[in-house]
Amino acid sequence: MPLDIDFDDRSVLVVGGTSGINLGIAEGFARAGARVGVASRSQDKVDAAVQLLSGHGNRAIGFTADVREPDAVQSVMEDFHDAFGEIDVLVSGAAGNFPAPANALSPNGFKAVVGIDLLGTFHVLRSAYPYLVKPGASVINISAPQSYQPMELQVHVCAAKAGVDMVTRVLAMEWGPDGIRVNSIVPGPIADTEGMQRLAPTPSMRDAVAESVPLGREGTKEDIAQVALFLSSSAAGYITGAIIPVDGGWSLAGFSSLSAMMKKQIRPATD
Ligand code: NAP
Ligand code: COA
Repeated sequence: MPLDIDFDDRSVLVVGGTSGINLGIAEGFARAGARVGVASRSQDKVDAAVQLLSGHGNRAIGFTADVREPDAVQSVMEDFHDAFGEIDVLVSGAAGNFPAPANALSPNGFKAVVGIDLLGTFHVLRSAYPYLVKPGASVINISAPQSYQPMELQVHVCAAKAGVDMVTRVLAMEWGPDGIRVNSIVPGPIADTEGMQRLAPTPSMRDAVAESVPLGREGTKEDIAQVALFLSSSAAGYITGAIIPVDGGWSLAGFSSLSAMMKKQIRPATD
């Protein structure tokens, strides 16, 4: 039986889909024939993403919203539904990250990241539920290896993404009877992204990270998009509640080299 990965006439919404990995996912679906919507805070980024996505031949639409605001997220769902109908594929990927030691992280810094990653994910999935195709919808949360691997200077991200993966698992159980599948993709170190720029800002840090990956390279946005397409296709029709690393094996051995480099970067040695 040939692999069925065709999204003609499907409606896909990627929240946090205006840059980086998530925009790569949105582009993957647009190339595969879907109508794609994206949402994020910056109007300029939304406009640029819609222009890029429209270039793939189908309609694209954009919304400006902060996932920390439930009412704004609710409006995105209503407006998406008005424009493109029920949601076949929902990707929730908005996130914030910066390295900071816990004792120097303000309560508001912790809250900002948990608010975007974890509360944002809940807001997105909860308000999308009435509009998801039942049965048949695929929901993908974009997680991170910090969800299962403790990492110094990342207490806020570890706490938030661990919560995201639990949202994935619990809603896979609650929504399974509706025929909705819910999974997490866990990207490894992905080249040319804001996330990597923040954690490994120098070329030598990124080279060292690439060397610590068993497959010997950083990942690409395309690597992640391909898995999002597969997970949302009928080929993955029996996969739900899965936390799927797409990381070249990076998290198998932990992050000790990146942690050590980040600690040096944030607290340079004085001698
Ligand atoms: P990115 O380009 O900064 O993507 C983040 C996206 O989320 C942007 O579209 C951003 O747009 C949006 N966003 C941020 N805060 C938001 C908010 N409060 N409300 C709505 N939208 C918001 O970063 P990236 O590195 O590609 O990361 C994308 C995803 O992959 C994240 O979930 C991240 O945790 C995960 N990840 C990345 C890596 C990596 O190597 N980069 C590794 C593991 C996991 P606006 O600024 O316009 O809001
Ligand atoms: N180190 C320590 N604390 C930091 C910080 C850093 N590098 N950057 C921000 N913070 C703190 C701020 O000081 C503030 O706390 P305070 O009020 O006690 O001073 C708190 O975080 C919120 O910062 P603010 O800039 O007001 O938040 P925001 O809502 O405008 O932005 C962030 C959210 C901080 C997550 C911002 O980095 C962001 O928008 N990120 C999105 C892009 C991104 O991170 N991409 C990578 C995804 S993997």
